[in-house]
Amino acid sequence: MTRPRVLFFGGKGGVGKTTLAGAVAVGLADRGARTLLVSTDPAHSTSDLFELPLDDTPREVLPNLHALEIDPTREADRYIADVKARLADTVPPRLAGEVERQIDIARVTPGAEEAALFDRFARILVTEGTSLDRLVFDTAPLGHTLRLLALPEQLDAWTAGLIARREQVHVLGRMWQRVAGTVTAAEAPDPVRDALEARRVRFATARAILTDPGRTAFYFVLLPERLPILETERAVRALAKYQIPIGGVLVNRVLPDDADGEFVARRRARERHYLDEIARRFGDLIRATVPLQAADVSGVTGLRALRPLLACDF
Ligand SMILES: Nc1ncnc2c1ncn2[C@@H]1O[C@H](COP(=O)(O)OP(=O)(O)O)[C@@H](O)[C@H]1O
Ligand SMILES: [Mg+2]
Repeated sequence: MTRPRVLFFGGKGGVGKTTLAGAVAVGLADRGARTLLVSTDPAHSTSDLFELPLDDTPREVLPNLHALEIDPTREADRYIADVKARLADTVPPRLAGEVERQIDIARVTPGAEEAALFDRFARILVTEGTSLDRLVFDTAPLGHTLRLLALPEQLDAWTAGLIARREQVHVLGRMWQRVAGTVTAAEAPDPVRDALEARRVRFATARAILTDPGRTAFYFVLLPERLPILETERAVRALAKYQIPIGGVLVNRVLPDDADGEFVARRRARERHYLDEIARRFGDLIRATVPLQAADVSGVTGLRALRPLLACDF
């Protein structure tokens, strides 16, 4: 059976998304799969985990494993700068101020950063990542990720709004050019509109990949505690509604069998209750149970110590 190529790790803040995504990526790379680990959580910690500075270009952290961190604010700024640069070539100087103003408004419109983040995300899925065996996405806490994955329609609306706004400016530009006698044909090229259209196509392709169970699987990381269980259950339903294929749940920070003492015994009894609850609610969606480590997990050696996870077939 061919495994999904694209793996997502989501869950509440602090449950271990970055750690488990990192461990799975190391496990895949160790088994020879060319893997790219992508962090889309604005609270980046992949660089801390690997004890390496990371940015938005892939950096090798191990043979077969590259990692990068995407910053939504920087993506949005870069996108806007790119649009402005393209416009500079096509817009008559008299309109340049108005065009800049329109674009600056678009930058602060709700959805701009999500659209830019999703765009980078889509580029990785559709182009940059296609020569690799596996893409592992360490995502932002649930609400944020759900919005990003589940609302390409909204993103589409945002892009369509930009196209419409662009169209108005372009019509004005053409009128001016005709008056100035610099073009005669009604159809002047419009690189900005072309770029926006390309983006819509990219979004649609990314969406097709994200909803294909043969290529994508979303994993939820949760702890044996009440609130993460409830929140994960809601998120599983939300993703199912948006046709994002669910790979399963990973239960993290479970007390190891050999932990002892009176206090630990009491914790274990409480934990048992929640583990039963997880089994009842998620059943065969449970893909791995990861023991609580004595210390924080860091570095490749720390990740390789998460053996139950590395042994899993993702
Ligand atoms: N199984 C584990 N045992 C011990 N510490 C863990 C385990 N999983 C995660 N941690 C620690 O918990 C903290 C939060 O993990 P992290 O992966 O950054 O969470 P998230 O990405 O979901 O916010 C980190 O300090 C990490 O080292
Ligand atoms: Mg994280």
